[in-house]
Amino acid sequence: MYENAQPKEAQPIQASTVIRNIGQLVTMAQEPIRGATGQLQVLEHAAMAVHEGIIVWIGSDNDTIPHFLQDASADADGITLIDAQGAVITPGFVDSHTHLVFAGDRAEEFHLRRNGLSYGELLAQGRGILTTMNATRTTDTQTLLALAGARLDTMHSYGTTTVEVKTGYGLNVVTEEACLHIINELNTQDVDMSIQRTMLRVVPTFLGAHSVPPEYKEKRNEYVNVIVNEMLPRFVGLARFCDVFCEREAFTVQESRRILTRAKELGYQLKVHADQLSSSGGTRLAAELGAISADHLDYATDADLDALRDAGVVATLLPGCSYTLRSPYPSARRYLDRGLTVALATDFNPGTSYCENMQMMLGLAMSAMGMTLEEALLATTIHGARALALHEQIGSIEVGKRCELALWSIEDYHEIGYHFGVNLVKSVLIQC
Ligand code: NIG
Ligand code: FE
Repeated sequence: MYENAQPKEAQPIQASTVIRNIGQLVTMAQEPIRGATGQLQVLEHAAMAVHEGIIVWIGSDNDTIPHFLQDASADADGITLIDAQGAVITPGFVDSHTHLVFAGDRAEEFHLRRNGLSYGELLAQGRGILTTMNATRTTDTQTLLALAGARLDTMHSYGTTTVEVKTGYGLNVVTEEACLHIINELNTQDVDMSIQRTMLRVVPTFLGAHSVPPEYKEKRNEYVNVIVNEMLPRFVGLARFCDVFCEREAFTVQESRRILTRAKELGYQLKVHADQLSSSGGTRLAAELGAISADHLDYATDADLDALRDAGVVATLLPGCSYTLRSPYPSARRYLDRGLTVALATDFNPGTSYCENMQMMLGLAMSAMGMTLEEALLATTIHGARALALHEQIGSIEVGKRCELALWSIEDYHEIGYHFGVNLVKSVLIQC
């Protein structure tokens, strides 16, 4: 796909930034890189060059060919030289499933569940998502933006560089639209770099079909009509994805099919919250409609998973939910060994996974779901990018891709997942 080998001649490569003295460059490259080893294509004692945010060269720090490595005073050429001081560098995490925009919290429900109430029972009682909907509807836009921005800052400090963000706590035209504007405002990738906010890519998803709001409780079909006839056409251009919570307590397969089919016609890409609490047909629907990802999948049958694989849909697993709901962790082997592409994400939300930290997801996937470190690292980077259809631009460190990196305070990447409960990322580097 990309030419990762160094140029044969000493042709000068235009570079604005050169990063040298990288202890281990864990590239996750999808094509072999000269000198790199293993499933993750790791280069020891590496360097890389970047121009206008795009990676233009990757190689050994001892190489003598590129001019920017020969010249110790590269700064004099207008090139910014960064000394990585032996750090491990990986691609930034791609968190492909979050519900970041909301007000309030649900600590009370978390503790009620310790006493035996289930998530589904709380939802059926009009709590759960609807508790957060009430808090979100009654909070002003600036406060919602500030809350979401602070959460993004936390994600960034743990090494995340791209975050998908869903609506789904407005559940009416006005608040869903306000939340979409907030999400778009959070996306600092294309705006003035001097602004005082963490540089993260934010991918907006419309999830109006998260729950039926109380005003439509007795006429749910009318709410589906509002989504299909008002919200979806109105939000074109504000959201890239349309997602549906296809579940016993939320939207039926028929309702979900209607919403997603209309969304597809309007140019949205699709995601499905599928078979999270019961085997309810969402995984099959994701395969049928050619969704980009199907998420949760705890109760998907083997045949459902085979259909998902055959349709090329990414399977996104969300271990934060099993942790929070104390439900059995899905065995990652079940998904990986049948050839599915597996992504891991936080599912950051106040109900089922109140955690911004992708390192935690990676650790849970290794300790409780049977993933190897290599599988978990791929699932949190390049496969997360696949779950957002952004794998041509981000998710691995390869020539032609965007420079979005996590710098780790460890000497060997094998410490990831092993040394747990602390933040091993010291900084992220975006668009240098
Ligand atoms: O992915 N299941 C649906 N949506 C979220 C939970 C949202 C909430 O409980 O507030 C999830 O688990
Ligand atoms: Fe979710």
